[in-house]
Amino acid sequence: MTIGIGLLGLGTVGAGVAAILATPQGRHPLVADLELKRVAVRDLSRPRPVAIAEELLCTDPEAVVDDPAVEIVVEVMGGLEPARSLILRAIAAGKPVVTANKAVIARYGDEIAAAAKARGVYVLIEAAVGGGIPIIEPLKQSLGGNRIQRVSGIINGTTNYILSRMADEGADYGAVLADAQQLGYAEADPAADVQGGDAADKIAILAGLAYGGPVDRAGIATEGIDRLEARDVDYAARLGFVVKLLAVAEHVGQADDGAQQLDVRVHPTLLPKHHPLAGVHGVNNAILVEGDPVGQVMFFGPGAGAGPTASAVVADILNIAGIRQVGGPAAGLDPLLAASSWNRCRLVDGLDSHHRNYLRLLTRDEAGVIGQIGSCFGAAGVSIQSIVQYETDGPGAEIVVITHQVQEARFRGALAAITALDAVETVAACLRTL
Ligand code: NAP
Ligand code: HSE
Repeated sequence: MTIGIGLLGLGTVGAGVAAILATPQGRHPLVADLELKRVAVRDLSRPRPVAIAEELLCTDPEAVVDDPAVEIVVEVMGGLEPARSLILRAIAAGKPVVTANKAVIARYGDEIAAAAKARGVYVLIEAAVGGGIPIIEPLKQSLGGNRIQRVSGIINGTTNYILSRMADEGADYGAVLADAQQLGYAEADPAADVQGGDAADKIAILAGLAYGGPVDRAGIATEGIDRLEARDVDYAARLGFVVKLLAVAEHVGQADDGAQQLDVRVHPTLLPKHHPLAGVHGVNNAILVEGDPVGQVMFFGPGAGAGPTASAVVADILNIAGIRQVGGPAAGLDPLLAASSWNRCRLVDGLDSHHRNYLRLLTRDEAGVIGQIGSCFGAAGVSIQSIVQYETDGPGAEIVVITHQVQEARFRGALAAITALDAVETVAACLRTL
């Protein structure tokens, strides 16, 4: 019995999916039962890396969703609209959906999950986070018995690829970004990668699964790598750190009204070289889940690109196909495979969070400057771990400070006082440090 697949998009990911479906030999036997029935693209004349029968291609994605031969809709076109409407249209028609679209799921996941539950269809999203790494189903299923304390990770392949090459080769930011686009890692608009929005979408999804309720995507504090300077990557290395774009969702408490309070954020971070995430290089991603009672579990693998992402998409299709072949969910949707909410989640502003900091200051090069900076930190109760002055080409001094772990509010107080010092010309960089 074949199962008809409708593909919305035949770009990097769509072509990867089509390539797997066209070569079932040596894969799970169910792959041979999946048949591509129709494919929507924007431009019929564009050359494709996979051979697709011409009659399957069209430029009308609604026609793909509505085609009676299409039983599972695979949305890999990206963007918010028409992707969201097409997913809802498939659900309304009773067709299960597989999507890699984290932008849509992070913003409309609740609406989509509610529609899917009401209609009794699955919407599976394994490819939306971590490319080829299985992380969605493990969070939904395998780790379900835990209280999750923290989910942290490198979840954007493009930025990790850029940072790795900047650190290893001193490569130029713009040139490496162009390579990442060429390799199919970057989003259609790579601003989503380098400004941290893509990682924020993904951590919103992971937090929603880990803590059982939708997270306000717009409230996630987000900083990308687009303003990161090569000299900070270099100084970090000299001080024993690696710079990574980290996404973190941390449980900080429970509000009086029962809502889970979460600190969710994305920012470049200095990781000590021995940290488990520091050795994650290139396009690889890794997600560290800390739970009670499991302890630390780390998921690692390629976080972007055609093959890895298609691997995750096809796994979701197989999940749905497998259920279909045994006659569908007998008594409603499997609650572990379907998305479910059981909590309310609220974001906190992070001023109470504790962490170390890296600060690079451009100052006048004169007696007493380091003392004044030290006094500002001391007055705010911030302890300094190290303070180093580096040579500059100009007349001023460049001072790099690493603090001990401190409450964010205290650190900001010290920073305001330091910025106001006459001898301090610029706060050139301020980065979190684990
Ligand atoms: P892509 O290479 O830009 O491909 C998008 C495809 O969708 C293209 O085939 C395009 O047609 C088609 N398309 C776009 N808008 C359309 C419309 N209105 N009507 C018909 N077809 C339309 O994007 P991608 O990299 O494959 O990413 C697809 C999705 O997967 C995105 O949500 C992305 O965030 C997600 N994702 C990507 C990766 C990755 O590594 N690339 C990894 C995980 C998740 P044309 O080819 O004719 O232009
Ligand atoms: N642009 C994304 C990344 C694709 O670089 O991680 C994978 O989601």
